[in-house]
Amino acid sequence: MEPLQVAIIGSGLIGRSWAMVFAAGGFKVKLYDIAQEQLTTALENIRKQMKEMEKLGVLKGALSAEQQLALISVCTDLKAAVEGATFIQECTPENLELKKKIFGQLDLTVGDSVILSSSTSCLLPSKLFTGLKHVKQCIVSHPVNPPYFVPLVEIVPHPETDPSTTERTYALMKKIGQSPVKLNREIEGFVLNRLQYAVISEAWRLVGEGVISPTDLDLVMSDGLGMRYAFIGPLETMHLNAEGVSSYCERYAEGMKCVLNTFGPVPEFSGETVQKVNQALSEKIPAVPKVLDARRKWRDECLTGLAKLKTQMKSD
Ligand code: NAI
Repeated sequence: MEPLQVAIIGSGLIGRSWAMVFAAGGFKVKLYDIAQEQLTTALENIRKQMKEMEKLGVLKGALSAEQQLALISVCTDLKAAVEGATFIQECTPENLELKKKIFGQLDLTVGDSVILSSSTSCLLPSKLFTGLKHVKQCIVSHPVNPPYFVPLVEIVPHPETDPSTTERTYALMKKIGQSPVKLNREIEGFVLNRLQYAVISEAWRLVGEGVISPTDLDLVMSDGLGMRYAFIGPLETMHLNAEGVSSYCERYAEGMKCVLNTFGPVPEFSGETVQKVNQALSEKIPAVPKVLDARRKWRDECLTGLAKLKTQMKSD
């Protein structure tokens, strides 16, 4: 049977990662970009990453690196890129006008059963898709960087998205081994970034007020909360840290509210605190490409190890 086909629009960091995830799932992938050299670099980078992962025994999917690479082709013609695709994942820069233009072009090209999906981190579906003829087939599938190692995908519908589009996208994400979650309605920051920004805000206030050093603040997460959160979420934490959620609320609601009432206003993320945090981080990890890249590589290796451990520890 001919493999199902997807199109990836934009071959940067996220587009490449989606291409690898879909190829690992056995899909034929057409990778589109405006610049041929960008596509050439993307393919080289994908080849290198796949070969390396194969060597380390962490390549996803049942196919070899060569078989997966054979599923990916590149193209600078939008119409040709999406022809035959059942799912289109847009991964162009985070610019509303640019994305609207691309979805406008796709709207004129696609049939009635293709799903038009965007990787956007923060543009709301109502901003991206309103007015499109195929709005029922439009959805946001927001990945987490790097999607190859961090499987979560937030699925966010437009108010007019057909429920079948949401269900099909959810099923597809499951099929390729990602971990989809459905939002019932759009909201600024979706869910992941709302949680992330709540953490960043309080981290920033604590460092800004001199309660803790930037390095120790990060340790609270990496050697404390984060260890738990890789396996269970904040709500299950409540459940397990007492005799169930009701018992947790009975015991700790007053204490939590007391602490929460001391949280300060939204930080400006400017001035002295920027310098303080930047100095501490730059001493540990100088902000130059070579060092940052090495640290990112180490982070990805950690995430690969964690992903392996999570598979072994699977409990649901
Ligand atoms: P990037 O800058 O690495 O890649 C963008 C790609 O789009 C480039 O290859 C560029 O040549 C191409 N491009 C520009 N104009 C185009 C056009 N008109 N048609 C086709 N391709 C075009 O960006 P990145 O980081 O891959 O982000 C892509 C999307 O994914 C953004 O919406 C971003 O918000 C989202 N995202 C990014 C994450 C991240 O951590 N980088 C995480 C989750 C989502």
